[in-house]
Amino acid sequence: MIYFDNAATTRAKPPEVAEAVARAIGSFGGVGRGVHEASIDAGMAVYDARDKVARLLGAPSAARVSFAANATMALNIAIAGLLPDGGRAVTTAASHNSVLRPLHKARDERGCTVGVAPVGPDGSLDLAAYGRLLEGGADLVAATHASNLTGDVYDVARMAALAHEAGALFVLDAAQTAGALPLDMGALGADVVCFTGHKGLYGPQGTGGLAVAEGVDVPPLLEGGSGTHSFDERHPRFMPEALEAGTLNAHGLAGLAAGVAYLERTGVDDVAARLRALTGRFEAGAAAMPGVRVLGGHGGIDRCAIVAVDVAGADSALVADRLSSDFGICTRAGAHCAPLMHRALGAEERGAVRFSFSSFTTEGEIDEGLAALEAVARAVR
Ligand code: ALA
Repeated sequence: MIYFDNAATTRAKPPEVAEAVARAIGSFGGVGRGVHEASIDAGMAVYDARDKVARLLGAPSAARVSFAANATMALNIAIAGLLPDGGRAVTTAASHNSVLRPLHKARDERGCTVGVAPVGPDGSLDLAAYGRLLEGGADLVAATHASNLTGDVYDVARMAALAHEAGALFVLDAAQTAGALPLDMGALGADVVCFTGHKGLYGPQGTGGLAVAEGVDVPPLLEGGSGTHSFDERHPRFMPEALEAGTLNAHGLAGLAAGVAYLERTGVDDVAARLRALTGRFEAGAAAMPGVRVLGGHGGIDRCAIVAVDVAGADSALVADRLSSDFGICTRAGAHCAPLMHRALGAEERGAVRFSFSSFTTEGEIDEGLAALEAVARAVR
C-alpha cells in the first residue's frame, strides 16, 4: 500500500508514538483526579504535551493550551465562545465545514451574520473583498491557514492584522498546517489557534485542541467534571481547564507529546522543506498528464503537502477506487468537506482526487503514484 491520504490523517507515525500510548494505557490514572502515582504520571504526561504544543505553536505558555478531541471540536469551542449573539463573523470560501457549519449555526440560531471572502478559480483568496467585509467592524474572523483541498496557504498574518483593525478576534484553523509549516501564533497575530493532533503532529486520532493568546477569554462550551472547584455550580473559567470538561485523553496525549518530540528533533523547517520538494515533484508530474487538471496550489503565499486533481471525464470516486484497487494507492475523493472551495474551483460535479503527503513519504512512492495516476487517467479517457 502507498498511503497518500495524510491530509485526512497521517498513517505512518514515529515509532515512539505507539510506544508512548502503549506505556500510558497500562499505567495512567485520570488527570487531576487523584493524588496517587498513577494520576500524577498522567498529569505529568499531559503537562509535557501542553508544553511541547505551546512551544511548537508559539503559544504564550503551556497553560494557554487546552486539549480537545480534534480541530473540529476546538473550532466549535472558539466560535461558540467568541462570537456574541447577533455578532458579525467573517470567514473565507477556503473554509472547511468545521468552520462553516458552526458559523451557519450561529447565523441560524443566534442572529449572527456571516461574510465569506471569495476564492478565485486558481485557489487565490480575494484579500480586497476580505477587507471590504470587515468595513464597519466585526466580532470574529475564523479562517483556515491552508485549504484542505488544494494546499494553498494564505497570508493569515495580513488577515489577522486586518481583523484586529476592524475590532475582530482572529481564530486560525491550523488543521492542515500545525507541524507541517513553522507556525508562531504571536508573530501571526492569531488570538486562537485550533489544531489537530493526528495530522502533521503525528499523534493519535482523538487528540487536538486550541492555543489561546493571553488576554483572550474563551468561555467553556461544555460544563462538567474539572477535578477542581467541585462545589462551584459552573465549570471553572481559568485556562486550560475552562475548555476541558471530563476526563482527558491522556493516553492519546502521551502519544501526541511523542509526535511533537519527533518534530522538535527533526525541525519543522526541515519537514516543511521536504514536504515542499515531494509536493513539487508530484505536481510537476501530474500537471503534465493529458486530461489531468491540478486544482489550485499556487493561489497563496505557500503550499502544504496536497495536490488535488480533476481527471477529465471521470468521477473522482471512480479514479480513487481504481488507484486503490489496481495500484494499492490510498487517496481521498469527493467533496472534502469544503463545499465553497469546490464551487470556486469548478470541482463540484466530479469532486477531486486528493493526494497528500507526509514526512514519511518517499520519492519512490511519489513516482509510483504518478505512474498509477497516468495509467488510470489514460484508462478512463
Ligand atoms: N478534514 C480532513 C480532510 O481534509 C479530514 O480530509
